[in-house]
Amino acid sequence: MTGPQGEPVFLRLGPPPEEPNQFLVDGAPQSYPPEVVARLEVDAKEIIGRYPNQRSALLPLLHLVQGEDSYLTPAGLQFCADQLGLTGAEVSAVASFYTMYRRGPTGEYLVGVCTNTLCAVMGGDAIFDSLKEHLGIGNDETTSDGAITLQHIECNAACDYAPVVMVNWEFFDNQTTESARALVESLRSGEPLAPTRGAPLCKFRETSRVLAGLRDERPDEGQGGAGAATLAGLRVAQQNDMQAPTPPAAEGQ
Ligand code: FES
Repeated sequence: MTGPQGEPVFLRLGPPPEEPNQFLVDGAPQSYPPEVVARLEVDAKEIIGRYPNQRSALLPLLHLVQGEDSYLTPAGLQFCADQLGLTGAEVSAVASFYTMYRRGPTGEYLVGVCTNTLCAVMGGDAIFDSLKEHLGIGNDETTSDGAITLQHIECNAACDYAPVVMVNWEFFDNQTTESARALVESLRSGEPLAPTRGAPLCKFRETSRVLAGLRDERPDEGQGGAGAATLAGLRVAQQNDMQAPTPPAAEGQ
């Protein structure tokens, strides 16, 4: 920029505006001690070895470091960058895109209440409000005992079991305000209820390691098969000998 006589004018810029939701948390580790790096490198090597292009391992590596800290910290982001030869900006750009990567400390159990359209009208909104009141926390906040982080989540493709609550990404189907309150109390008591389907619950950090692609020690490897509601349409089709219509031949064939 120049002034009226063509002289250069320098403007002093203030600090950048505060941007919420960045990876800035007081007390977050800025780097890992050597023994932690050495331990994580063993896991990282296994993960990276699965991909022909090592930068493809970024998503599971982010879960790996999330399993270390319960959220993405500067230390975790830098570890991923170092392992993959990426810049911190490249890692942060990917990490900030996906909602499964946490930006603040996470409790032992991440309780997600689906408030997407179908679950909402079937009671999801009421469940979320009920849990906020019961736990005394807001969205994306953690109870003072560190047991539960509550958040509302988008559709998890379980609409046939609406309203759905997910704990560390395991399904609790057909919930009510009462059952959801009983569920969070079971989590706080240390004797968590079993998910409606799929594998038993594990703590959030263990879940993150499973999502990183490391071995899942739980029975059935975290699967569980399709439930009766999901298969209802197929069952009716089979009982009535229904077939999908043959698609019309494409033009020109
Ligand atoms: S709307 Fe809740 S699982 Fe689809």
